[in-house]
Amino acid sequence: MVTELMGWDWLFSLMQYGPVWKQHRNLFFKHFPVNTTAFHPVQIKESHILLRSLFLKPKDFLSDTRRSAAAIILQITYGIQIDEKVDEDGDNYVSLADKAMFSFGRAGLFGSFMVVRIAMLSALNFEIYILLSLKGLPANTETYAPLDAGGLIQKIGPSKMRNGVASPCIVASELEDIISGRAPQENERILKNVAATSYAGGADTTVSVLVSLYLVMTLYPEIQNKAQRQLDQVLEGRLPVFEDRPQLPFIDCICYELLRWNPVTPLGLNHYAMNDDENYLDPKCLGNTPRSVSHFSCVFAESLSSERYDHHRDVYPDPFTFSPERFENVEKNIAQGINEIPGAVFGFGRRICPGRWMAFDSIWIAVASILSVYRISKAVDENGKVIEPEVGYTSSLLSHPKPFQCSITPRSAEAAKLVLQTADQD
Ligand code: HEM
Repeated sequence: MVTELMGWDWLFSLMQYGPVWKQHRNLFFKHFPVNTTAFHPVQIKESHILLRSLFLKPKDFLSDTRRSAAAIILQITYGIQIDEKVDEDGDNYVSLADKAMFSFGRAGLFGSFMVVRIAMLSALNFEIYILLSLKGLPANTETYAPLDAGGLIQKIGPSKMRNGVASPCIVASELEDIISGRAPQENERILKNVAATSYAGGADTTVSVLVSLYLVMTLYPEIQNKAQRQLDQVLEGRLPVFEDRPQLPFIDCICYELLRWNPVTPLGLNHYAMNDDENYLDPKCLGNTPRSVSHFSCVFAESLSSERYDHHRDVYPDPFTFSPERFENVEKNIAQGINEIPGAVFGFGRRICPGRWMAFDSIWIAVASILSVYRISKAVDENGKVIEPEVGYTSSLLSHPKPFQCSITPRSAEAAKLVLQTADQD
């Protein structure tokens, strides 16, 4: 539905399984392999810029974090350097793509479009329809002006490349192969799609995780203390680098718990079976409903009861409490069959998120860097009264914490100095 009505047919995460999707996935995988150390310099540089922005205008933590995520993916993919200081609307490239992602997040939620609802009503048990439509789904398609996906792709990449502003990146290296004849001309279309999908997949997802960090740190100060004790012991007055990861296991635990506690894509991405699947036509499931409806609904129901589901009580005891400690004792967890790393947030099987390694690295370095120099606590109003943050998440395909306030202050004069010194290093 999103693909057809909004012109998002370039987004390969929504493509039907088959040879064309495979071409896209292979090209993506070529540039985002399991070993993503090539991205570390960009991720470190952007984590430093984020620290400086939080120092200058801590109240803008949301827009600063958005800028940071967008800057990483735009640099890697298109070689575009996003200005460190952006105006109120944000850098052109960031705000253009953000607007697109916002409408995608809303429209991509199964059941948002009236057309889907009517189709569902005619085919599906009424209770399930109600379940899916419960919260805040607009009843018409006008909210989602069709996106000019071609324009988005054009504006984001090639113009800067033509002007020679772009630095070495995925698009430049692939274009070189096409121009020199080492790769076929048809790769250009695949390249455009893959590059734009990388932005779509990478710019908004990690933002949600990092904004959750600010939220939970206001709620669980003792977790923040524990993380900072470990960071202080290992770093001894410097900022973290990726090589510190084995010595900072509690930062890993925080990242896993951030991914699990309120998953970015609570319903994953919907796929439907290309052929009828006898198992899903079993009357015990939903009766003889059409394949698309029955498949989606059963997969949805199964994922809720699945042992891999992020809030299954047997796997993650006390699932709604934010508790990074649950991941600390790997051996005990394996023996007791609890607390596996929450890989399910990245999807399943052949469509599992291929950007997950790069995503985890971006999250890890940002979490370690922020906690090493900042104290995050509840905001205080002009009368000195503590403002309790609202813990709520948006009901969209990509779920984000609802707006809240917090206070972000340097942990010490040395920490502030460390932040400001990064300007000379980058
Ligand atoms: C916290 C961060 C992220 C989360 C939670 C996440 C989650 C997901 C999920 C649930 C899917 C759907 C899997 C399925 O269909 O079963 C997916 C697909 C995808 N993600 Fe991610 N993702 C994240 C970050 C990223 C990043 C940083 C990139 C790019 C650099 C990326 C690129 C993709 C792509 C290209 C697909 C489509 C795969 C396909 O259809 O073959 N993701 N992601």
